[in-house]
Amino acid sequence: MARPILVANWKNHPSSLIEAKTLLRQLSRSSKLYKKLFFFIAPPYPYFALVSERLGNFGQLAAQDVFVLPSGNHTGQVTLDILKSFGVRLAILGHSERRALGETNDSVSQKINIALRSGIIPLVCVGETARDQDGEHFEFLRDELKLSLAGLNRKNDIAKLVIAYEPVWAIGKNARDAIAPADLSQSVIFIRKVLTDMFGRKTAEHIPILYGGSVESANVRALLHETGIRGFLVGHASLHTKSLEAIAESLI
Ligand code: 13P
Repeated sequence: MARPILVANWKNHPSSLIEAKTLLRQLSRSSKLYKKLFFFIAPPYPYFALVSERLGNFGQLAAQDVFVLPSGNHTGQVTLDILKSFGVRLAILGHSERRALGETNDSVSQKINIALRSGIIPLVCVGETARDQDGEHFEFLRDELKLSLAGLNRKNDIAKLVIAYEPVWAIGKNARDAIAPADLSQSVIFIRKVLTDMFGRKTAEHIPILYGGSVESANVRALLHETGIRGFLVGHASLHTKSLEAIAESLI
């Protein structure tokens, strides 16, 4: 079986280069643990050089987004050739915090395509803003998946795709307020069904699905138990060495 996947989304943290150095030094003490996983860190751009240098061989660099146009003159943007030159292997695309700033399914779809053409693994985030009794959130999830993954039909493309299920309502809280394992399991089955409708069973069953949203050491084992996920996309807990270690250990 393929290795579990752990992605640390640092978002816009920590707030200084010195703190980033300290965090990396602490993380590297558990390098043996992280080497057992596909481990990625997605830092803010100004820390890319530092992270790519200090990650050594226990993890890989990831981007929190990509710019949709090829290299050229684009003031204020970071193009894929620059990301690649730092060794970026994976890009988080369609994160709800970017969708809240205006990212559309259409632009997510374009970004998936350009990332794939550059040999970068797209980690595509989907997730409903609220869960409701009538299951309307499943329709939202289906539309988001279908529109974000539009235009992907080549087997080679799908083989590199990773999905992150991140219900928006569960992000940035704590273990108590995260999704219940039974609900997670239901969503994963649903996502797998949509992927099957789109790409066929054989292809769909190999697409890894991660979970993100208030993953902490306290809920990580319950979230893993028979829910069908291959790993986690972790926000705030990834900034605390002990919490991230506990999450990594649970995946092994
Ligand atoms: P939290 O783990 O802080 O809820 O963030 C989840 C997330 O948005 C990861 O991409």
